[in-house]
Amino acid sequence: MEYVKFFLTILKKNAMQQKVNITIMDITIFQFILLLLYFVFLQNVSGQGDTITTTQFIKHGDTIVSSHGTFELGFFSPGDTSTNHYVGIWYKKTSATTPVWVANRLAPVANKYGVLKVIQPGLIVLLNDTNATVWSTNSSKSVQNPVAQLLDTGNFVVRDANDPNPENFLWQSFDYPSDTLLEGMKLGTDLVTGLERYLTSWRSSDDPAPGDYTYHCDPTGYPQNLMRKGANVTFRAGPWNGIRWSGAPNLVNNSIISFGMVMNSREIYYKYEMVNKSVISTFVLEPYGKAMRIIWIGKVQGWVNYHSAVVDDCDTYKLCGAYGTCNILSDPFCQCLDNSSQNILIIGKGLTGLVVVSGRSH
Ligand SMILES: *[C@@H]1O[C@H](CO)[C@@H](O)[C@H](O)[C@H]1NC(C)=O
Ligand SMILES: *[C@@H]1O[C@H](CO)[C@@H](O)[C@H](O)[C@H]1NC(C)=O
Ligand SMILES: *[C@@H]1O[C@H](CO)[C@@H](O)[C@H](O)[C@H]1NC(C)=O
Ligand SMILES: *[C@@H]1O[C@H](CO)[C@@H](O)[C@H](O)[C@H]1NC(C)=O
Ligand SMILES: *[C@@H]1O[C@H](CO)[C@@H](O)[C@H](O)[C@H]1NC(C)=O
Ligand SMILES: *[C@@H]1O[C@H](CO)[C@@H](O)[C@H](O)[C@H]1NC(C)=O
Ligand SMILES: *[C@@H]1O[C@H](CO)[C@@H](O)[C@H](O)[C@H]1NC(C)=O
Repeated sequence: MEYVKFFLTILKKNAMQQKVNITIMDITIFQFILLLLYFVFLQNVSGQGDTITTTQFIKHGDTIVSSHGTFELGFFSPGDTSTNHYVGIWYKKTSATTPVWVANRLAPVANKYGVLKVIQPGLIVLLNDTNATVWSTNSSKSVQNPVAQLLDTGNFVVRDANDPNPENFLWQSFDYPSDTLLEGMKLGTDLVTGLERYLTSWRSSDDPAPGDYTYHCDPTGYPQNLMRKGANVTFRAGPWNGIRWSGAPNLVNNSIISFGMVMNSREIYYKYEMVNKSVISTFVLEPYGKAMRIIWIGKVQGWVNYHSAVVDDCDTYKLCGAYGTCNILSDPFCQCLDNSSQNILIIGKGLTGLVVVSGRSH
């Protein structure tokens, strides 16, 4: 019991000031098991699980958590200065400072009295304090008993309570990406329905409204990923040759990530998978037109840039030191060939600007 109390204290501290560092090394197996029990216990007694039904709702301060505890959904305020409230999804480990998806990007709620509900015949609606709908999903289908569920992939879906078949989802957040491509999401075009799934940058780190930059998988000709600023193309990965991007020859399947292009008569899209499922990594389009793969490093409680698709800012290529060559196979730090330079870049939407911390590769 003493141990549990001790860890509760640490956990609370940790929640309050992100800077407290617990490394796995500091925790003995016994303490680790207690921690694990604590989390299992927590999930069973509190919260609403991963689903809301038509009789439930999510208000400010409430969250739902996906079945294996990977993702969390709730209200958040972006950046340091914004007082607007948005519904978002974030990795539970990284907390709401880095949402991977935002619902009401263009329709913030000005106070804490927003309510998220699922209603018949199968819509998610966000109401403000006058019960006006500020944001809603849509669907061409309808069901008797809709529920909204946060899947462990990070996909927020509307489905019939008795029908978990993905083919029959009424709506899913994976069809409407924000600025982040998660493992398993499709970046590309459904040739049958015409739906294009692409990333749109935030306007700024305080404002998730759609910004100037978009990141697409362009299906015309030899498919390739490209970035646009407005209508102008500002970056091309080069055509996909079946194995890699011709413009990024070093980027191949490796011990952390495998990726590829899926092309058939129904759809053309880019996707990736984490080889090591315990690594948290996403592909994100930053407000000022940097598209980059980032990895969560528990040790420093921050995101580290792993690979950038950059246009204007060539310096970013030098992230890992003077030689500008990252060993993409190193796991999980950006390991520098130039071993005199041990700076790694930590980025986060919760931080004002970029913060450079000193870190060693191992
Ligand atoms: C909003 O709807 C709820 C539930 O239907 C009701 O209790 C509440 O009075 C309504 N508020 C306003 C301002 O209409
Ligand atoms: C609630 O939302 C409606 C519709 O967007 C808007 O007209 C109204 O001003 C909002 N009320 C408040 C208090 O924000
Ligand atoms: C749903 O809304 C999106 C965005 O507003 C729109 O592009 C899409 O066509 C709509 N889908 C249906 C089935 O109405
Ligand atoms: C697109 O390019 C044109 C020509 O270079 C330029 O005038 C325009 O401002 C660019 N648009 C954006 C959104 O950058
Ligand atoms: C990379 O891994 C994916 C699985 O995610 C596989 O489909 C693809 O064939 C691999 N590419 C190469 C060039 O081996
Ligand atoms: C997967 O990643 C974790 C965390 O970085 C690491 O501890 C583990 O050794 C990795 N597993 C494999 C098989 O590479
Ligand atoms: C890296 O450091 C090792 C010893 O710390 C040294 O022997 C080696 O020459 C260094 N390599 C480079 C590229 O600086």
